[in-house]
Amino acid sequence: MMNAPTLFTPLRLGAVEMPNRLLMAPLTRMRAGPGRMPTLSMAEYYTQRAKAGLIVSEATAISQQGTGCPNTPGIYTDGQIAGWEGVVKSVHMAGGRIFLQLWHMGRISHPSFQPEGGLPVAPSAIAPQSGQALTESGLQSYVTPRALETKELPGIVAQYAAAAKNAWRAGFDGVEIHNANGYLLDQFLRDGTNHREDEYGGSVENRSRLTLEVTEAVTKIWGADRVGIRFSPGGVFNDMRDSDPLATFSHVLHELNRFGLAYAHLIVSTEEDIRHGAVPVPLATLRKEFHGPLIIANGFTRMTATQALLEGVADAVAFGRLFIANPDLPHRFQLNAPLNSPDESTFYGGTEKGYTDYPALNLEFVQK
Ligand SMILES: Cc1cc2nc3c(=O)[nH]c(=O)nc-3n(C[C@H](O)[C@H](O)[C@H](O)COP(=O)(O)O)c2cc1C
Repeated sequence: MMNAPTLFTPLRLGAVEMPNRLLMAPLTRMRAGPGRMPTLSMAEYYTQRAKAGLIVSEATAISQQGTGCPNTPGIYTDGQIAGWEGVVKSVHMAGGRIFLQLWHMGRISHPSFQPEGGLPVAPSAIAPQSGQALTESGLQSYVTPRALETKELPGIVAQYAAAAKNAWRAGFDGVEIHNANGYLLDQFLRDGTNHREDEYGGSVENRSRLTLEVTEAVTKIWGADRVGIRFSPGGVFNDMRDSDPLATFSHVLHELNRFGLAYAHLIVSTEEDIRHGAVPVPLATLRKEFHGPLIIANGFTRMTATQALLEGVADAVAFGRLFIANPDLPHRFQLNAPLNSPDESTFYGGTEKGYTDYPALNLEFVQK
């Protein structure tokens, strides 16, 4: 029998050979330059973290319509592609691998970001009941979005396809479809935000349709073995709800088997999340529905991640906040070395402070 895997057992995700099972989770840091172009500082930040088995980039807008947050990068202009090309080259030179996370915010946007100041688009004209839009001029109330017409949906799929092609031009190793956290694809999937009466609403088959069409379009460009997808089955962030999340996410994960994706990536609900309204969705059931490699994230430590791999509940673990604070996280985990603490005040926006200035392990400690 094979030994149980640890965080340092190599793993193949589709076409990608990972030297370890620690992924850097996608992390919005709001430090892109003018025109949503990636900067040199972003290249430095990702390169510092190149020892991750795989880096998943921060959520990146697939079109202007998909934007809705200041200083987040895009992948729909030549300048953005060129900026990302610099990031990817630098990560590759350091021996790393990086996927781009494809993002359309749907109703979480605001007219100030939209072409001609129009309304954000969504499956149905339902505004989020909690939270506020973060605009260039500070927090503002969400507006009621415009429900996309059925005939507009091929255009949404085309935005994902164009962005996937641009990611390929920029030299990425693959892409992750952002279907989590209450953004456009999640809004279509769940019945709290999708009240449509066409073939994209109602039954779980219909609510999964856009996800599956986007996945098909993106896999046509990349090959399925370089495409992953992320979900947050129990998440309530961005005022999300579903009458039966286990049924919804079981169905979509099962249907995704037809593609043979590189991986599915699930944000699990922690006990603390559940105390704050998240829904417990049994991971073991979801794991059975999806036959490819499974990545889990949310609140993991070296100990709990090692335990999860040992028990076989997932194949790899993504770390967010610990990777923000510890550029050399795999190295620190390997040595069971102390960790830097993340500074929440510098998560979103700002300078190199809290971005590229977290120290790597002190060599004196290693040599002692
Ligand atoms: C600052 C910050 C930015 C985030 N941005 C994204 C994002 O762009 N895309 C995404 O799918 N999740 C995003 N997340 C969620 C993380 O990927 C991850 O699931 C979460 O931080 C929980 O993992 P952790 O406990 O290891 O930090 C973000 C989280 C944080 C703290």
